[in-house]
Amino acid sequence: MARKVLLAQDVDPSGKRLLEDNGFEWILAPKEDEKTIIDLIADCEAVFSKTYFLNENILKAGKKLKVVAKHGAGIDNVVDLKTATKLGIYVVRTPLANADSVAEHTVGGMLAFNQKIIQMHNATKVADFAQQECGDMHEIKEKTIGIIGLGNIGSRVAKICALGFDMKVIGYDPYVNIKNIPDYIDQVSDINRVYEESDYITLHLAATPETIDMVSEKQFDLMKKSAIFINQARGNLVVEDDLIKALKKRK
Ligand SMILES: NC(=O)c1ccc[n+]([C@@H]2O[C@H](COP(=O)([O-])OP(=O)(O)OC[C@H]3O[C@@H](n4cnc5c(N)ncnc54)[C@H](O)[C@@H]3O)[C@@H](O)[C@H]2O)c1
Repeated sequence: MARKVLLAQDVDPSGKRLLEDNGFEWILAPKEDEKTIIDLIADCEAVFSKTYFLNENILKAGKKLKVVAKHGAGIDNVVDLKTATKLGIYVVRTPLANADSVAEHTVGGMLAFNQKIIQMHNATKVADFAQQECGDMHEIKEKTIGIIGLGNIGSRVAKICALGFDMKVIGYDPYVNIKNIPDYIDQVSDINRVYEESDYITLHLAATPETIDMVSEKQFDLMKKSAIFINQARGNLVVEDDLIKALKKRK
């Protein structure tokens, strides 16, 4: 009998073929709800999830479950890690799979904002070739970007910004070995310098008890009034009410 893998959410056909070629049978959950997943998981040795959260009830129902696989980098949104650890279930992820994509998306957002690409696109769609209302454009060249978290994604953002756009890069990450930091990153030990000195501040770190709510009113107050804050990591790194307050204060 083939060993079964539950897909809590659909995956690319190539992923399914890979499973089949290796003798696994995959089952795609018809619905992303707890009862459906609990019913299906009982028979499975592995489960894939991208964003569906596998909670304690689900993990406990997986009597044969050996591994939870996230196709992506951050696992905080897919599994109750404490319970998985307690039950001896491996949790694996694909940390490099989308690192370039997130880094490019980050820089893409900076360019779209500064070069008013969205406004121009909209103006062009309605044949407004005068584009008078698009606002001032700015170059990112030689501006300062502060990167919090210099792992797979943060280090790629640093490389693109420093080598591609001649930006000054300040980086904060107390857990990386300084020997592995390229010389185009000015690694700072005081995180406040990132908030105070940067024209762009971008977060690239996991949501953990240490980092949740790390950006609040105090940090927004430290930022330059013109600073652009980018969060491509997790929403809960930021105190949303304080972000709203900062926006209302036109920070
Ligand atoms: N937007 C998306 O689609 C998307 C996609 C992938 C990942 N992510 C998010 O981005 C995060 C980063 O991904 P990654 O692949 O670069 O992870 P990574 O593990 O390679 O890098 C994270 C870095 O954060 C550092 N770090 C940990 N605690 C820190 C702290 N308190 N202060 C400063 N740095 C700290 C770590 O030392 C590490 O170098 C993921 O955890 C995930 O939440 C988002």
